[in-house]
Amino acid sequence: MTTRTLVITASILGENGQSKALAERFIAQAESRDGVEVTHRDLVASELPHLGLAELGSWQVSEEERTPEQRELAARSDALIKELHDHDVVVLAVPMYNFGIPSQLKAWFDRVMRAGVTFRYTENGPQGLVEGKRAIILAARGGQYAGTEMDTQTPHLKLMLGMMGITEVDTVFAEGLAMGDDTRNVALKEARQGIDSLVERL
Ligand SMILES: Cc1cc2nc3c(=O)[nH]c(=O)nc-3n(C[C@H](O)[C@H](O)[C@H](O)COP(=O)(O)O)c2cc1C
Repeated sequence: MTTRTLVITASILGENGQSKALAERFIAQAESRDGVEVTHRDLVASELPHLGLAELGSWQVSEEERTPEQRELAARSDALIKELHDHDVVVLAVPMYNFGIPSQLKAWFDRVMRAGVTFRYTENGPQGLVEGKRAIILAARGGQYAGTEMDTQTPHLKLMLGMMGITEVDTVFAEGLAMGDDTRNVALKEARQGIDSLVERL
């Protein structure tokens, strides 16, 4: 059986991006394994705009009734949701920018979290409609926040993934990257080890 893995990167720092370097490590290790297929989506290259009213509105019109412009707008979200459905594991390589996730990654979530498509509201609360998937977060930060309320990213990410039904989530932290070479080198080494052991479980 093949494990199809979608690796999503969102660093704005180009070749210096640490989360991207961790994602590249993940991809290299994963591709060296039999039965693992990897797709890489770089959200900085994708240049998704902010979600706006016209695009949101296009989702609320039935396919047959959409104007050509609405068809084009709805296709953006449809394609990203199909890509998510087509994979078994989603890897989110996430830089911390100003205590949040990159706006490029938010723009992705704004398109894959679609009421009635990837989750729905029921009498018992929200129900995820993306089934049988797991996620891995590779979190790169200048400071050290894991396990504290200053980790403003991983609870948010888990909430959004969980809303869609993706509740099995592993996290690898690379923290303290702006706290001197020693701290940074240890953090990156441990993160690479964490990645390697997760790849073994694919
Ligand atoms: C615009 C910007 C904002 C940042 N904000 C934070 C922050 O709020 N907290 C923090 O710990 N590090 C912050 N950093 C440091 C980054 O988290 C760190 O450089 C990390 O490696 C970014 O991931 P990347 O290298 O994959 O882009 C910031 C960096 C940039 C460029």
